Amino acid sequence: MKGILMAGGAGSRLYPLTQVVSKQLQPVYDKPMIYYPLTVLMAGGIREICLIATPEDLPRFRQLLGDGHQWGIQIVYRVQSQPEGIAQAFLIAADFIGEGPVTLILGDNLFFGGDALPRAFASFSGGASIFAYHVTNPECYGVVEFDSEGRACSLEEKPAQPRSHFAVPGVYLYDHQVVSIARDLTPSPRGELEITDVNREYLRRGQLHVTRLSRGFAWLDAGTSTSLYDAAAYVQTIEKRQGIKLGCPEEAALRRGFVSVELLDQWLASMPICEYRDYLQGISHEYRR
Ligand code: DAU
Repeated sequence: MKGILMAGGAGSRLYPLTQVVSKQLQPVYDKPMIYYPLTVLMAGGIREICLIATPEDLPRFRQLLGDGHQWGIQIVYRVQSQPEGIAQAFLIAADFIGEGPVTLILGDNLFFGGDALPRAFASFSGGASIFAYHVTNPECYGVVEFDSEGRACSLEEKPAQPRSHFAVPGVYLYDHQVVSIARDLTPSPRGELEITDVNREYLRRGQLHVTRLSRGFAWLDAGTSTSLYDAAAYVQTIEKRQGIKLGCPEEAALRRGFVSVELLDQWLASMPICEYRDYLQGISHEYRR
């Protein structure tokens, strides 16, 4: 399984924060936002990642994440010149995807808790696999409706009158068909290739699997100043209470066996003295015990 991190878009809802720094590079408590979805991919065992960003922001992502070797992964970069829709990712990254399965995750979506996502990555066997999450404001998202037997029966993008309270979070697993499905899409009235139209096509083919994320699982998006603040508060609450860090790629790399503890220590030596380094040093000691 390969992974795509979608980190383009104008970030206009966060203006003026995004005048100079892209949305996905903004801090969510103690880390750049992009660390969180990146860590979800890594914790799910995905080592080949393509990050898509605007031409202006791409150099800064490259500066932050590099080629991924420090975390035992490979990161390649592709440009999206205009925000012409999330599903355009499959056209931009068609050569990267090749013939295998791919997970797309949105750069402003944060997922915490349980092993639902790593399990879905590991057990993926074809078609499309997406998730459903109960929210108070479904009209702001893609919305999935279930029939009386619990099967997904409709999908709509930001409906004025949602048919359910189940939003579709920004993490999607697809087989090789996704590139040709994306090629056949036509732009929506807002001028975008919609990810919901991709999912609808899999539904039409009878190949869409929808997993309901359980109570207690946390899905947050950080696209507005309020949700960005809420996400930071959530991360701070959990980190302070548990003494762990969320969205830490170094830790995911070590726990997944992508890097040895010796390599982590080398990387730590180049980090300034800070709380983040202290935390990772604690993890390194735990591994050496
Ligand atoms: O957050 C989940 C929701 O994300 C889904 O429920 C919706 O079905 C899906 O359409 C999307 O809705 P949003 O309106 O929240 O998408 P937004 O335009 O904010 O873009 C989400 C992320 O994708 C954001 O980090 C920017 C990036 N993006 C977006 C577009 C349209 C790109 O990189 N390129 C684009 O062309």
